[in-house]
Amino acid sequence: MPQSFNSRSFRSALGTFATGVTVITTITPAGEMIGNTASSFNSVSLDPPLVLWSLARNALSFDIYLNARYFAVNVLREGQDELSARFSKSAGDKWHGIDYEFWDTGCPILPSALAIFECRRVFTYDGGDHAIFVGEVMKFDHDPKGKPLVFWRGGYHRTVS
Ligand SMILES: Cc1cc2nc3c(=O)[nH]c(=O)nc-3n(C[C@H](O)[C@H](O)[C@H](O)COP(=O)(O)O)c2cc1C
Repeated sequence: MPQSFNSRSFRSALGTFATGVTVITTITPAGEMIGNTASSFNSVSLDPPLVLWSLARNALSFDIYLNARYFAVNVLREGQDELSARFSKSAGDKWHGIDYEFWDTGCPILPSALAIFECRRVFTYDGGDHAIFVGEVMKFDHDPKGKPLVFWRGGYHRTVS
C-alpha cells in the first residue's frame, strides 16, 4: 500500500535495503587524510571495473572529494562497528590510533578491512542533495573468507551461515 510521501517514512523505507558498510578515504593536496563512512557503495561495471558511492553535499569534506583524483573504498568486516561510527562523525580526529597504510595513490588504506578498492575518480554526477562518484578500480584486495558488517534499518547486523 503506497504511503503519502514524507521524508521520515522515505528514509525508513530505504532502510529496509540491507547494505554493507564502507569507509571511503582520500587525501588532500596538503596531505590531510580524509575518511567517511558510506553505505551507498555499489558495483557498476566489470569491464571497465567501475564502482560508485554517493556523498551528501553538506558533508564537511564534500569539496575535498569533489576535487580529489583518487579515493579508496574500505569494506568493513563484522565487528568493525566502531570504525564505522568513528568515520561517520564530523568532529574530531578520525585517524587517532588507527592502523593505515598507503598503496599507489596516497589514499589511506585500512588494512583490517574485508575488501579494499583503490580508485581513480572518472565521473561525478548530480544526485540531488548528494553527488555520485564513479571510480575506476586500479588495485584491489580482499579476504575471501571474511564476513561483512551489515547495516539495516539504522543498525549494525551480522550475517548468518
Ligand atoms: C552506516 C552509515 C552509512 C553512511 N552512509 C553514507 C553515505 O553513503 N553517504 C553519505 O553522504 N553519508 C553517509 N553516512 C554519513 C556520513 O558518514 C557522515 O555524514 C560523514 O562522515 C560526515 O562527513 P564530514 O566529516 O566530512 O562532515 C553514513 C553513516 C553511517 C553511520
